[in-house]
Amino acid sequence: MRVPVIAGNWKMYKTAGDSAAFVRAFLPLVAGVRGVEIVLAPPFPSIAPVAQLVKGTGVGVASQNVHFAAEGAYTGEISPFMAADAGATHCIVGHSERRQYFAESDEMAGKKVRAVLSVSLTPILCLGETLAEREAGKTFEVVERQLLAGLGAVSPAEGPRVIVAYEPVWAIGTGKTATAPQAQEVHAFLRLRIRRLWKDAAASVRILYGGSVKPENISSLMSQADIDGALVGGASLSPGSFADIVKFH
Ligand code: PGA
Repeated sequence: MRVPVIAGNWKMYKTAGDSAAFVRAFLPLVAGVRGVEIVLAPPFPSIAPVAQLVKGTGVGVASQNVHFAAEGAYTGEISPFMAADAGATHCIVGHSERRQYFAESDEMAGKKVRAVLSVSLTPILCLGETLAEREAGKTFEVVERQLLAGLGAVSPAEGPRVIVAYEPVWAIGTGKTATAPQAQEVHAFLRLRIRRLWKDAAASVRILYGGSVKPENISSLMSQADIDGALVGGASLSPGSFADIVKFH
């Protein structure tokens, strides 16, 4: 039985003050919700204040990125340990915006997943094809390559700690969601591929969908056998719409 995960990725939005105001408004809206893991991914300066405010509620806090090294001369970066020290429980790795705008490679994603697990944070490994790749019939080839590189240094015993997020690049921030069956097709493929790596442990790996998830489409996505939650961008910025997504059933 996989507990669904609904994660909100705030990207480069919200000051520490805005983040705190969000949490104060959001927590009462989801106070009665059971059986769903909620994760908030604020910008770096908001990790500590958000972590303070959600303490004891079961809500997780994710860093949106980390470097793979433990420390060093890497101006502008933070280490997984620093994220954990600030109160993070999770870390997003390999988001398509990191891959697209900051030249992050598959290999870097693999190193980051390894580094994040090593400090006991939960990695949320993002992968997904671009529109050109989908139109060229390369979707499965691309997501398989990203998956294998991302999980290459993870043992089957650690496998269930990893969360995978399938986010077709053409659906991110565009208002164009993959249809539920379109997403399910890729999720089923990913689980099959994970099963080849980790055998039965694949059954406990949560695979989230991301890309224009909204209160209106979450239920149909969640009705699919291999969709175990969502990574939400735009619709996670308001407490009301994010709470509606959390309460999908
Ligand atoms: P979106 O972003 O929900 O705004 O499409 C999703 C994401 O980038 O994780």
